[in-house]
Amino acid sequence: MKSGSASEKSAGKGKDGSVMPKTETVRSKKKTLSKTLEKTVKKTRQKIDKTEEKRTAEKDSLSLKERAEISYRNRLKKHYDEMKWLYHELYHGADEAFQYLLGLLEKYALSREEDLLILDEERMAKPNWYKNNEQIGTLLYVDHFATNLQGVEKNLSYLKESGFNYLQIMPILESPKGKSDGGYAVSDYRKVQPELGSMEDLRSLSKACHKDGMIIGLDFVMNHTSEEHEWARRARGGEKEFQDRFFVFDDWGIPNEFEKTVPQVFPESAPGNFTYYEDMHKVVMTTFYPYQWDLNYANFMVFNDMLETALYFCNQGTDVFRLDAVPYIWKRLGTNCRNLPEVHTLVRLFRMAIEIVAPGVLLLGEVVMEPTKVMPYFGTDEKPECHLLYNVTTMATTWHTLATQDTRLLQHQLGQIFTLPKDKIFLNYLRCHDDIGWGLDYEFLAQFDMAEVPHKAFLNAYFRGFADFSEARGELYNDDPLKGDARLCGTTASLCGIEAGVKEGNQEKIDAAIRLDLMLHAFLLSQSGIPVLYSGDEIAMENDYSYHDDPLKRHDSRYLHRGNFPWDKAAKRKKKGTVEEKLYSGILRLEAMRRKNKAFSAMADTWIIDTKNIHVLAFGRYYEGEKILCFYNFSVSDEIAYVSEVEDYVNVFTNEGMKARDLRIPSHDFLWLKTSF
Ligand code: GLC
Repeated sequence: MKSGSASEKSAGKGKDGSVMPKTETVRSKKKTLSKTLEKTVKKTRQKIDKTEEKRTAEKDSLSLKERAEISYRNRLKKHYDEMKWLYHELYHGADEAFQYLLGLLEKYALSREEDLLILDEERMAKPNWYKNNEQIGTLLYVDHFATNLQGVEKNLSYLKESGFNYLQIMPILESPKGKSDGGYAVSDYRKVQPELGSMEDLRSLSKACHKDGMIIGLDFVMNHTSEEHEWARRARGGEKEFQDRFFVFDDWGIPNEFEKTVPQVFPESAPGNFTYYEDMHKVVMTTFYPYQWDLNYANFMVFNDMLETALYFCNQGTDVFRLDAVPYIWKRLGTNCRNLPEVHTLVRLFRMAIEIVAPGVLLLGEVVMEPTKVMPYFGTDEKPECHLLYNVTTMATTWHTLATQDTRLLQHQLGQIFTLPKDKIFLNYLRCHDDIGWGLDYEFLAQFDMAEVPHKAFLNAYFRGFADFSEARGELYNDDPLKGDARLCGTTASLCGIEAGVKEGNQEKIDAAIRLDLMLHAFLLSQSGIPVLYSGDEIAMENDYSYHDDPLKRHDSRYLHRGNFPWDKAAKRKKKGTVEEKLYSGILRLEAMRRKNKAFSAMADTWIIDTKNIHVLAFGRYYEGEKILCFYNFSVSDEIAYVSEVEDYVNVFTNEGMKARDLRIPSHDFLWLKTSF
């Protein structure tokens, strides 16, 4: 017989040698084990506590600069291998250039001023600092808003009063008059356009913003320089080394090959992607305007020098870099020269380098493309690229929804956005300094018989006020009659009908237009991410037709919605009953509610609600015990949202109790309902 009977097997010996049932033995073993474990854990914890105490004591005794240096070295260590790998993937054997880059990182990391180092520490301690419902932005041209940088600083109080804590300023660097593309043709990356002020003024503004709890964003015009930039001038002077920083060709052979696959950005105002330069008898790649020379990032000198520019501006106090035209920064013959894999490698390299020097500085990618092209610019969790991306899809679809009174495409697209990881943060907007392009999902629209060319024609007619129910006043941008794909310009107020109502002196129209304008802002402010208003939209700024008389601007209809900030209208925001007061106070209330209610946080759950009515868009938001339902009626008539939610709700603004059942929503109006658990 094998030793150990069945009963013995299931039993063990007690401390006194007595036989115990197995479960007892296990229990006692477990007890001993857990005691030993407890002891070990306690000891380890004590050890850790001591080390922590020692570390904190050591840290406390270190100066801010010393702490920053240690932290910089740790970040460098963290990213070093990947950075080196990616750099060499683009620039084979460029060891010296990589060493040069490391030198840049050290130089700028160790020369950051103390006020910025404090911000770095705060943001490193709270890496999700921008992923909530706190940030609300405004986008402005310095000269249009307040003449120069000092003027902007003096008027920060207006921006604060307007609820903006994120100031994104349009390009401010030196740019040749008449050949500036609104400042997007930079001729000197170390010099502020003299009329706008100086680098000291910029630094002073960034300090003032930070003191007021605001963040400041700048453009990083990275795809091209002006033809007047020193590199371009030297290239034109015949220096090969500088020609190699661009795409310069002896004849039209290769450019013509490129033209076979590269679409045009400005088909009407700047056709083609290349320009012949008489002075050097060569052809240069100029994807945008002919005076904007595309930089060749296949040359490591270009990458290193442009990175240095970014690091330089990190140390001027920039919190957000708008990566202008980022999808275009790598070119390859035979492709459309957009979104090539190398672009992502470059963005990742920029991200790591900036994070090493200035942790907490955010990258905002300007990727004005369809969603499948936009999303990859977030990168992955392990290898992130941009912190923020423009939500161009929702922007354009919102206007489409207004014109068609049909929310199905918007629902479909929001539904897709709602499934994305919540930490992917979008910058939401109704309009910016650029045109509204009709890059809609035409495959989806085809099921409702909306085909691309006629639909674009309809939208452009609608927003110029040529269609039924339209009081909009817009103008076309880059009309290409062959393709029929003109885009559209206009301020939010003018597109909503405020301008038409005011011109006609028709109070009913004005009130309806204000209601619509507020509904669109409510929609904007109820989306996850960071809402950004174009400066002046909060006080119903109308179109500026004077650009037609300006020979430097008349070819570019985007100037229609880039007028000077109307301070006379701003003054009326305080006068009860004016258009400005009604809109401004309405937007302020929306902003306050967004900030007050945590369900508007970027981290909230969001879902589409079926209203059984294609005119009414509805979605829900939930975060930490708070649930908010948002309804938007895009129809010209009052409509019912056929919903049936079980909880008791209150109106977010009035606190009045309500049931969320079969809700009647006036035309172009909205409703926010709240309940708590
Ligand atoms: C971006 C800017 C636009 C400019 C273009 C070329 O798209 O938003 O205004 O024309 O880049 O720099």
